[in-house]
Amino acid sequence: MPPLDDSITKIQEYYGNIILKSKDLQTNTCCCSESIPPHHLSILDNIDNEILGKFYGCGSPIPPALDGCSVLDLGCGSGRDVYLTSCLVGPKGFVIGVDMTDEQLAVAKSHQQSQARRFGFPKSNVDFRQGYIEDLAALDIADDAIDVVISNCVINLSPAKGRVFSEIFRVLKPGGELFFSDVFASRRLPPALREDRLLVAECLGGAMYVEDFRRMLRGLGCPDYRVMTKSRITIDNPEVEAKVGAITFWSMTIRAFKIASLEDLCEDYGQVATYLGTIPDHPHQFPLDDHHTLISGKPMLVCGNTAAMLGETRFGRHFKVDGDCSIHFGAFDCSSAPASQSGTGCC
Ligand SMILES: C[S@@+](CC[C@H](N)C(=O)[O-])C[C@H]1O[C@@H](n2cnc3c(N)ncnc32)[C@H](O)[C@@H]1O
Repeated sequence: MPPLDDSITKIQEYYGNIILKSKDLQTNTCCCSESIPPHHLSILDNIDNEILGKFYGCGSPIPPALDGCSVLDLGCGSGRDVYLTSCLVGPKGFVIGVDMTDEQLAVAKSHQQSQARRFGFPKSNVDFRQGYIEDLAALDIADDAIDVVISNCVINLSPAKGRVFSEIFRVLKPGGELFFSDVFASRRLPPALREDRLLVAECLGGAMYVEDFRRMLRGLGCPDYRVMTKSRITIDNPEVEAKVGAITFWSMTIRAFKIASLEDLCEDYGQVATYLGTIPDHPHQFPLDDHHTLISGKPMLVCGNTAAMLGETRFGRHFKVDGDCSIHFGAFDCSSAPASQSGTGCC
């Protein structure tokens, strides 16, 4: 597929030739402020400085329980999250990084063999492919092929976000997970901001209005996604701040699953989930989202959607989920949950 429009070649130019290292960015939008788990920090210590110096992510979109998984990183840039994930999936898993910008991929590829050696793997378990995240079929990524799709501060840059999410749900296996960090806005941006080259390239101009994102996912058969973290972006550039005025931007990390049975609201089927404490590096608790943390060994009443997310995905072997959806007890009581922070208003 050729570039979708002129804006995409400008972004290629920006990340290929204008921005050469993290410090060249004009705002702090693409500067990850999310805290990084200690076991990820120790892996980062083992990743080459050239890769780390070209990291432009806005979050930490690496979920747990990745051992042996197939992972796809959309807009992988110079490969920081690909290599971090490569260590976590281990030699039996593999990671595909997709990016449209040759210069970024050249850096990523140049470390392929040395990173495999650093991680002690017999051969590299990563593959970098040049292309567009709107057309993964052109990169030979088949239907139902991928366990986990990740992406860090990229989808906002796409002029065809519906195509990106449609491709994500096509390539995910049933029960597979999308786990990504991106920039979201408190309203639909006016055309002047959406077309402002600097704002677009710095991941603000194409930021998704959160409710439009919810509608888009719902249209693709995913009526319940979960917010992991949400932090306000301080732009730190007076000229850009003056342009965006009262619009609030957030960096959010979100998870969504390819599960056909999800409902648009939380429903009570009397199901109970107990975390077995078996996910590596999570012996005591498992955060499903920003307001559901399951404590090891403690049974928790959950709605039908949460039961499916825990029981019908790769997390299933780490949970005991009692009950099914055969008897309905009404709406699930979400009164204790801060609905405004949840992905869908759902528990
Ligand atoms: C802000 S950088 C983030 C890079 C990387 N995820 C990281 O965290 O360092 C955005 C990246 O997405 C890539 N990109 C943007 N739009 C794309 C598209 N439509 N298809 C493929 N890659 C794209 C750019 O080339 C760039 O490398």
